[in-house]
Amino acid sequence: MDSRNGPASETPLDAEIESFFDSAPPLKDSAGIIKKLKEFIEFNSTPPGKGSPRRVVCVTSGGTTVPLEQRCVRFIDNFSSGNRGATSTEYFIKAGYAVIFLYRRGSFQPYCQSLPEDLLLECFECSDDSTIQVHQPHTKAVKRAVRDHHAITVTMSQSRILGLLQAVAGGQLLKLPFTTIFEYLQMLQSIAMSMRDLGSHAVFYLAAAVSDFYVPWESMAEHKIQSASGPLDMRLVQVPKMLLALKKEWAPMAFCISFKLETDSNILLEKAEMAREKYRMHMVVANELSTRREEVTVVTGNERILVCRDKTRADSDVEEPLIELIVSRHSAYVKDSGL
Ligand code: PMT
Repeated sequence: MDSRNGPASETPLDAEIESFFDSAPPLKDSAGIIKKLKEFIEFNSTPPGKGSPRRVVCVTSGGTTVPLEQRCVRFIDNFSSGNRGATSTEYFIKAGYAVIFLYRRGSFQPYCQSLPEDLLLECFECSDDSTIQVHQPHTKAVKRAVRDHHAITVTMSQSRILGLLQAVAGGQLLKLPFTTIFEYLQMLQSIAMSMRDLGSHAVFYLAAAVSDFYVPWESMAEHKIQSASGPLDMRLVQVPKMLLALKKEWAPMAFCISFKLETDSNILLEKAEMAREKYRMHMVVANELSTRREEVTVVTGNERILVCRDKTRADSDVEEPLIELIVSRHSAYVKDSGL
């Protein structure tokens, strides 16, 4: 075992996890992130006006990268647009949850999905020197984005801790960006530890596409790898699955939902069932790459629940019935746990 690991670990998995964190480059502004988390959770535990504490969900979204060089020029990426995480965030907020949105920089954002992706400035026009107006074809989408985003920030402006929470996007939404697998897992751990005391009121909705292999920091080239040296021979190490650590140690009472993505529908449900048992998840959302926007199957206990988008409505999405199902199962869990 690596001498930096300290006391002997219980299992090989614990040792792998310790070794991953010990060798990861330090997370930038880790103290600042922990402070934001603490303030956000405190704020939502006693929100102004309404009184009752909000349930808190951590939604992870987008793909993690694996850098190949310390001064990174090249990296391996994991596929995910962030659409699932961003859309689900909107429904969780609508259902009254506070959301910690752990997202990949540059991926889809809540409330901005109907805005044009590349040409945001196309939405606006200058009518004279001092006013900017929304260009007619985009009025509806911009109105919706501003209205919905404002709805969650208004609470903030009325809050008694406004000054303290300047960096927080809104009373019900905290956004934290990541790029690499190192940042993602370090932040997930900090979030989980911060949510630990929420007990059964905490939810993890792990929709991010997480790298399975990485280059340990200490064995990574510092500078850009030179192509003149010929073919690249590189050893990738397996990223330890953090789901068990999350469930067993970081936030043991939390309601946990992980995802299973496959391209072969024949193995999808079997793999989802295995993951649910192995990592003791409350639910696993199984999705196939090509149909992920149309339907998913939720594996929970001995049930397999098919959740589909309402195809009679052009603007419907699969996240609406999915979050409705999750919220009802989470409510039953909170009731059962008696907390
Ligand atoms: O973003 P979109 O374009 O809308 O697409 C959404 C999605 C298809 C990315 C999403 O619905 C989804 O399936 N996300 C999970 C993808 C994934 O990483 O699947 P997996 O089978 O490799 O991992 C299963 C679970 O284990 C995940 O919940 C992941 O958080 C977790 N994991 C994975 C690797 C690892 N080293 N540690 C982990 O904890």
